[in-house]
Formats: sequence, structure tokens, C-alpha cells
Amino acid sequence: MLAIRLVSGPARPDSLVLPIRPEGPDGPAALVPTAAPPGDDVRTEAVALLPAARLTGVAGEVREHLRPGRTPARLWLLGVGAGEEHDWRVAGAALARAAKDETHITIALPDEAEDALRGLAEGLLLGSYRYRLTEAGGTPALAEVDVVVGDPEALAPTLDAARTTAEMTRLARDLTNTPSSTKNPEWFAAQVASAASGRAGLHLRVRGPEELAAEGFGGILAVGGGSASGPRLVELDWRPAGARTHVVLVGKGITFDTGGISIKPVPAMKLMRKDMAGAAAVVTATLGAAALGLPVRVTTLAPLAENMVSGSAFRPGDIVRHYGGLTSESTNSDAEGRLVLADAMAYAVRELKPDLLVDLATLTGANAVALGKRHAALYSENDDLAADLLAAITAAGERAWRMPLADDYVEYLGSEIADLHSSPALGAGSVVAALFLREFTGDLRDRWVHMDMSAPSWSDDVHGELVKGATGWGVRGLLRWLATLG
Ligand code: BES
Ligand code: MN
Ligand code: ZN
Repeated sequence: MLAIRLVSGPARPDSLVLPIRPEGPDGPAALVPTAAPPGDDVRTEAVALLPAARLTGVAGEVREHLRPGRTPARLWLLGVGAGEEHDWRVAGAALARAAKDETHITIALPDEAEDALRGLAEGLLLGSYRYRLTEAGGTPALAEVDVVVGDPEALAPTLDAARTTAEMTRLARDLTNTPSSTKNPEWFAAQVASAASGRAGLHLRVRGPEELAAEGFGGILAVGGGSASGPRLVELDWRPAGARTHVVLVGKGITFDTGGISIKPVPAMKLMRKDMAGAAAVVTATLGAAALGLPVRVTTLAPLAENMVSGSAFRPGDIVRHYGGLTSESTNSDAEGRLVLADAMAYAVRELKPDLLVDLATLTGANAVALGKRHAALYSENDDLAADLLAAITAAGERAWRMPLADDYVEYLGSEIADLHSSPALGAGSVVAALFLREFTGDLRDRWVHMDMSAPSWSDDVHGELVKGATGWGVRGLLRWLATLG
């Protein structure tokens, strides 16, 4: 990962980056005043360059200017738009891409640089992310970024928060991008164990198939039953001394979703290694809460299973007995996510009795139908809780949209032979899935948030701080939100 350092003056001015912004609504661009102003010659040159290069100052605009034989040898002008944290995140990502062949750059920040620094650092670290199993194609040269600010010491905690957030988002991306031939439930649990080891206050318990059977986790066992790699339930607990609030996070962890006996067609199956992006997000957010020492207790549950087609796979028409005893009739083995989540949620409600319950899941293709490729669907009966989470998600640069838990559809969850029907053909896909999960929230019904994040968990192109592939959606928003709880 790129090393970012706070300095009070340019130490190695080989490559200097100056922020620019639109002067009016449509430009032209002007230099942003910085804590340590550049030398007069550089400033004069940059000012002359702005109209000559037809720069607008829009966030993410980057222009390199060569100054052979002079110092700095390369001058970069970087658009930061309105200068909000989000603009700086976009700018940081664009800079990481544009300057990938530099080894070292220095960037000057304005006074009052807290939001700018947070955005810039996250943008640099997330925009430079790449997942590759080999070194083919080469790795970016850019290794060090010096950030010039007025008071480096005062901004150290801000940089630390940004770095931890980006590091955990990158880990979530790595886990989600990993091919499923490697990433079975046991492997995922082992990754959690190695990431959590050695950190005081973090406790990990991993249940295997025998323990799951002994305790009655029928949903996880049904879904995992078709795979040669047995299911697991990861329970990762961050328990800081003096915490007054206890949050349980639940994340869907299907390490590959073939659809099971109700097998998916080829195009729908090709990306199903990402079906554990919810589990990756909640686990890494919890690791992040521990790394930042957030004073809130967080227990993360990641039910992990591979939904396969085999002689031991569960069948359409099977009845599943979930943790706690509720039964569901499953007529489509491709609606597997809600079955594993139901077990974990029922366990949380009955045994952990938290103050708040939040689940993240790549639950339905209908998420993208309703909201497109970048917004998660957020469901809650609690307006304040929904607003708090939406605010944190937005501030962190992610996107979600609140959706209704429409009671009109509850009747579709009825079964003639079980308590519930898990995959009704009627109603709206993402809404009905949320309503099914709600049946397992018990007395946490109005302290629960569900996020269907199948759409934003993956990006088809380079977009701001997102690169092609897994996005790590949810890590940033969850960490922001957890940081507001005492
Ligand atoms: N993992 C899928 C949902 C999904 C689809 C995630 C596309 C990411 C991209 C989930 O397990 C699934 O198959 N859902 C079904 C539910 C249906 C069978 C009720 C769906 O959305 O079609
Ligand atoms: Mn499925
Ligand atoms: Zn799935």
C-alpha cells in the first residue's frame, strides 16, 4: 500500500501537486490557497498555465507540466472542485492513476485540511488498489506521497482514520475478488483468524458443521450441504472496555453461488464469487473498529457456505428449521442468502441481545433493477437509525437508498406446511427478501437495518475511488457510523 506522510514543507520537491478549483460555476480554474504556498516562480507559472491548458478545476481533473532542469521537475495541477471531502476523494483517486509512474509526489493542502486530507488519502489508497494473482502488467511505481499541511501533528489522527478505513476496504476487496477455488468457507474463516490475531479486545469463534448441527443452525447447514467444503459461522467480537452500545453486524458469506439445484444460467453465475461481499464488509469493518479503538462493542456474524449442485444439496420443496425453531419452505435453492442470514440473525437476537442489528447481503438481483448499479437498498422500521446510517454512508462516499418494508407483500411469505415461504414468486424481489429477514429480528424489529448491496458490491469500470471489480462497499459507511456510537 502507498505510504502517505504528513510534512510541514516540501522535502523532496521532484514532483509537486497543486490543487485547483473552478472560480465560477463553469471555471476557469484558479489555484487553491495552500498552507505552505509554492515559490513565486512556480505560482506564476501555474497561474499562467490554467487558462493556457483550458483547465476547469472540476474534481478529478489532472494535468502534468514538465519543467526540465528546474525544481520541481514536474508540476501537477489537480482539480478538487468544491473542495468537499468527496471531491478530494475523487481527486486523490485520479491522481493515483495519473501519477502511477512517479515514485514520489508531494501535494500541498489548504489550511483547515481535515476533510481534504481524509478524502485525499482514501482516494489515493483506494484508487491505486489493484487485485492481481501475478505481477504481469507491472505494479504502479508510485510508492510515497508527502502531504504538506500547516500542522502535521494535529492531522495525524485524521490520516490514521483514513488509512485504516482504506486498508480495511482493500482487504474486503481482496477477499471478494479472490477466486472461489481458493475461497471456501474454511479459507475465509482462516483469513479472519489471521487478520484478527494478536489484537487485544478481539475474540474469534468459528463454528464448523458439527457445532452448527448441535446448535440447530439449519439454514446454514442446508445451504452448505451440497458442497465438498463444509459451512462455517464466524463470530468476531470487538469488546472494548467501557462500551455502552452493542451492535451486531451480520454479513452474507456465500463463497460461491451456483444457485444450487435451481441452478443459475451462465451469465448470472459468472460473478458469483462475490456473493460473500457482505461478510467481507462486516468482518473488515469490525477489524477497523478494533484498529481505531472505537468505544463500541461490535459482534460480527458471518455465515459462510458454498451453494453447490450435488447429490447432497438441499432441494426445492425442502423445509429448513432455522436457529431458534422457525421453519421455512424453500422452493428455490437460489434464494439461499436469506436462509443463512436468518440463522445468524435469530442467534444474534436470542443469544447476543444487542442494542442494534445491521445486516449486509448481496441478496437479490432486484437491487440493481430498482436502484441501478451504485446504490444499496436500505430497509429499516426505525427512521432515526435509517437516517443515521444513510448519513454515515453518504459522508463516507458510498451510496444507499431507503426502500419500503411494504406490508402488502407479507401475505406472500405464507406457506401451507411451514412457518414461512422463503422465495415467494410474487412481490418485489428485494422487498420480499427484506420482509423474510424481518421475521427473524424478534424484539429487535425496530432496531434493525438491512442493506441489500448486491449492486454496489461490484464495479464494472473505473469510477472515482472504485476500480473494476470488488468495491468493498459498506466498510467505509459502517466505520463512519460505528464511530458515532459511544
Ligand atoms: N446471490 C444472488 C443475488 C445476486 C444477483 C447478487 C446478482 C449479485 C448479483 C442471490 O442468492 C440470488 O440468487 N437471489 C435470487 C433470489 C430469487 C431466487 C428469489 C435473485 O435475485 O434472483
Ligand atoms: Mn442465490
Ligand atoms: Zn446468493
